[in-house]
Amino acid sequence: MNRREFAAAGLAGAAAMAGSAKAAGGKPFPTGFQWGVATAAHQIEGNNVNSDFWLMEHLKPTPFAEPSGDACDSYHRYEEDIALVAKLGLTTYRYSIEWARIEPEPGAWSIAELDHYRRMAESCRKLGLRPLATLHHFTAPRWLAAKGGWDDPATPGRFAAYADKATRAMGDLLDGVCTINEPNGPVEEWALRGDKATPGADAFAAFAAKAAGSSKFSTYGLGDAVKTRDGMIAGHKQARAAIKATRPHLPVGITLALTDLTAAPGGEDLYKHVYAASRTPFYEAVRGDDFVGVQSYTRVRVGPAGKLAPTERVLPMHYEYWPQALEACVREAARETHCPVLVTENGIGTENDAERIAYTEAALAGLRRCIADGVDVRGYIHWSLMDNFEWLEGYRPKFGLVAVDRTTFKRTPKPSAWRLGEIAKTNGAGVG
Ligand code: BGC
Repeated sequence: MNRREFAAAGLAGAAAMAGSAKAAGGKPFPTGFQWGVATAAHQIEGNNVNSDFWLMEHLKPTPFAEPSGDACDSYHRYEEDIALVAKLGLTTYRYSIEWARIEPEPGAWSIAELDHYRRMAESCRKLGLRPLATLHHFTAPRWLAAKGGWDDPATPGRFAAYADKATRAMGDLLDGVCTINEPNGPVEEWALRGDKATPGADAFAAFAAKAAGSSKFSTYGLGDAVKTRDGMIAGHKQARAAIKATRPHLPVGITLALTDLTAAPGGEDLYKHVYAASRTPFYEAVRGDDFVGVQSYTRVRVGPAGKLAPTERVLPMHYEYWPQALEACVREAARETHCPVLVTENGIGTENDAERIAYTEAALAGLRRCIADGVDVRGYIHWSLMDNFEWLEGYRPKFGLVAVDRTTFKRTPKPSAWRLGEIAKTNGAGVG
């Protein structure tokens, strides 16, 4: 099926389903609802050589399946990527700006890199897209890691200084800022493991420290989980204050990694512990933010000794196919924070694009039920625009709506890209 045929089928299907949604009493998505896609700098730009992750990817041995290398060369091709987002009919592009480029040495701010990211926001605006910038999506300058990363009490202040520079450079063009991506992820994993670090993490950190010429090395997911949590909460608050000092009306939020977390029989105590360690502190910290970013992919059922084995289909990322997670997580975040919700990530790593469409539509049906029940949801941003560098897993998992040729960097939208575009253009008619 070519693009035109797919669009026609999608529209026809949407119209037919819109009838059934009405018959079922489904309410439309609110006027002005945002439909978008997300990316992160390190995963698509390429050659982020001054970052902590680049260093770790090139250690021998390394737990990374392969290095990020040129990634999707989006550092040079961002205009093409932004034009594609607009062409699909979406309203919002969530991307991250790279601290390791903007502050390559402590206090040495790169005007050229700030200009680069300003041009990205300008490109979005020119095409009528809403640019939503994330300041920290896992990667940081390698010098920061060598100073102890988020374990170091000085890091929240350094992060706020970076937030201040970014806001002054491009805040007038942004639609919103996500301060830190998934700061709760490492502490949830730690608590689920019975308050233990990832096996081998300490030895790898010591090895990386040597390579960085330091006595310590700490990055997202590698440091002390509790110190990282507390440092990131402080960093979020200080960055929010720095942004608001210059741009009081610029919406600011944090994006949380939320699994549909439930207690299985016998797992109630561990569940409570995990929730208290990894959710409550963040929910308390973000009350008063302009939005809470919900990122949801799957579920975790907590048994007496940790995560229970999946019972549903297991995806290449080793977790269960569970599109119901989005509805549960949106309800939880709204109830706990009283903030408007923005779905800042939801998606599926699969080679099977029909499965991606089915997953996305099922997740959106759940989102629609939240809205029908009065939950204030402002938008749905899919992960991800294109197939990209999936951290430890390398380029194997395919989260993209758009395929990327690893040699020519040619972008080819998959049917799921056109389908999400049609959903956006009809403001969700036929979903749910
Ligand atoms: C992260 C992305 C990642 C995606 C899929 C999210 O937790 O923010 O960087 O690629 O999950 O694993």
